[in-house]
Amino acid sequence: MRFENLLRPALKDIKEYVPGKSIEEIARKYGIPPEKIIKLGSNENPLGPSKLATAAISKNAGKVHLYPPSDALELRKAISNYTGYPAGNIVVSGNGMDGIVDTVARLFMSPGAETVIPIPTFSYYEIATLANGGKSVFVERDGDFNITPEEILKKINGNTKIIFLCSPNNPSGNLFREDDARKILESANAIVFIDEAYVEFSCSDLSGLVREYNNLIIGRTFSKAFGLAGMRMGYAIVPEWICREYMKVMTPFSMDILSSAGGIAALEDREHLEKSIETVKKGRIQLTSGLGALCKVYTSEANFVMIDVYPRKASDISESLLRKGIIVRDCTSFRGAGTSLIRITVGTKEQNQKVIDALGAIL
Ligand SMILES: Cc1ncc(COP(=O)(O)O)c(C=O)c1O
Repeated sequence: MRFENLLRPALKDIKEYVPGKSIEEIARKYGIPPEKIIKLGSNENPLGPSKLATAAISKNAGKVHLYPPSDALELRKAISNYTGYPAGNIVVSGNGMDGIVDTVARLFMSPGAETVIPIPTFSYYEIATLANGGKSVFVERDGDFNITPEEILKKINGNTKIIFLCSPNNPSGNLFREDDARKILESANAIVFIDEAYVEFSCSDLSGLVREYNNLIIGRTFSKAFGLAGMRMGYAIVPEWICREYMKVMTPFSMDILSSAGGIAALEDREHLEKSIETVKKGRIQLTSGLGALCKVYTSEANFVMIDVYPRKASDISESLLRKGIIVRDCTSFRGAGTSLIRITVGTKEQNQKVIDALGAIL
């Protein structure tokens, strides 16, 4: 018996999310010892997690038979302290910022509802839109991956519910300007979701705008600068009315006890945070200048750089790097990215040099 016909028809349009490759997968496929593999494909923290965070996680292991507090208030207070916003403006997700994006889509999507997405960008906005019954409308960025507010506003109609902006943008690393964000926030009768997953590495922070605009959501994560990708923690700064609605539809107890304890400790470990940011800023200069001699490198405000290997194919070059045990992100699966872009996470000084040398040999 087959039951696929029971699935919601909208699901047939969803293309599976393509994640960065894992060390285990590459070790198996190419017979390379895992410890020799350099993972620069998923924008993780090359310094690892904060020691304070791992200690807090271990310390709380004996409590995992208990449900966590469903409002995650202690963590939200710690985030409040970090962001300067009251806990009533903070929502959290125990499934990373992906979980935030999904819950926000759940709040605003219905059949016929639309989201506007400048591409190429992080692909989960589109998946969350479709999975929650809506439809995405795309706007192409220019040659430098910038986009004007006018082009975005042109795509807005009575069905538009959410505009997804990513700053710094994944995979291009460039910022969305504050005055452009204001134009959209003021002109659009829609929610503007600004994804600031990489904000700590950049010179821009648009979160202050939540005080001024009732239609703005700022998405954040513990996966990047805080080095807790494996704990799957995301949060968002939202107007109070959205916080109330969010709490109604989020999965209960979404933030588990270990993540919460680890996250609070990571927020307190300013030394690890600053060291992580410093490592990325230095490594970004190293990668940009080292790779700049080989191919086009885009200016980045994030913990990765994007290169263009045209006329070569990103898939071929990424494959050659994989054979040498270096995982990077072939951007071909990003909608609208073409076939020659590769995203490389900033690693340690040694890892960065290895990728520069390997690409030098390949290109
Ligand atoms: C722009 C952007 N937003 C959101 C995410 C998801 O982050 P999380 O690990 O918190 O789900 C990523 C992950 O790489 C990302 O690049």
